[in-house]
Amino acid sequence: MKLCVALDMETKKQNLDLAMKLKGLDIWLKVGLRSYLRDGACFVKSLKNMGFKVFLDLKIYDIPNTMADACEVCADLGVDMINLHASSGKKAMVAVMERLSRLNSKPLVLSVSALTSFSDDEFSEIYGMSINSAVRNMAIFTQNAGLDGMVCSVFESAMIKDVAGENFITLTPGIRPFGKSSDDQVRVANLEMAKSQKSDFIVVGRPIYEAKDPLKATFEILKGIE
Ligand code: C5P
Repeated sequence: MKLCVALDMETKKQNLDLAMKLKGLDIWLKVGLRSYLRDGACFVKSLKNMGFKVFLDLKIYDIPNTMADACEVCADLGVDMINLHASSGKKAMVAVMERLSRLNSKPLVLSVSALTSFSDDEFSEIYGMSINSAVRNMAIFTQNAGLDGMVCSVFESAMIKDVAGENFITLTPGIRPFGKSSDDQVRVANLEMAKSQKSDFIVVGRPIYEAKDPLKATFEILKGIE
C-alpha cells in the first residue's frame, strides 16, 4: 500500500513547503483542481523535478473526444496517474485509452466511482441505485475499457477487486489515520481498514497538512502501512 499526500493547501507556497519537507520519502503527491488551476503545469513539473510520483486529480468528465484531448495533455505533463469519472461512460473511457495508447509512455488511468463525500442516500438521489450496485457496474465497465483501476472508498475496495481482479488498482481517499474529524467526508476509514480491504493507494490530505508536525504525521502513517 502506497501513501499519496493531497496537496490541498491554500497557497502554492504552502504546498511546495510541504513537498520540500516530504522530499525523499517513498510517497506520491496528489495535485487537485485548485492547485492545478492556479499553479498549473509549472507546479506539477517542479514536483516531478523533486523526484515525486504525481497523481493529477482533475476528475475529468465531458464528451469522449474532449476527454481524450484533455487526458492527452495531462499525459504530456509527465504525471504518473490521472483520473476521470466512471459516470462519463464506457465510450469515453475507451476513447481516452485509445488516445493514450499512441503515446510512448502513459500514466496510470483510474476512474472515479462514488465520491467519498456521498452518503448512500445522496448517491441514490443522483444515480437511482445504491453505491454498492453502481460501483460494481462501474468496476466492470472501467476494466473492460482498459483502465488501470478505480478511486473509491475503502468500503468498496475489496468488492472491486472481487469483480475486477487483484491487479486492478484501488485508490482510496477519506482516510482518517488518527481517528480525528471526518471533515466533509462521509465514508471514512482508518489504516487497518484500508489494509484489510486491500487498498493499493491511500490518499491523505488534512490529517497530514493540518497536523502540528506534518512530517511526523507522515512517518506515523508510513509506519502504520508497513
Ligand atoms: O483532506 P482529505 O484527506 O479529506 O482529502 C482527500 C482528498 O482526496 C481531496 O483532495 C479530495 O478531493 C480527494 N478525493 C476524495 N474522494 C474522492 C476522490 C478524491 O476525497 N472520491
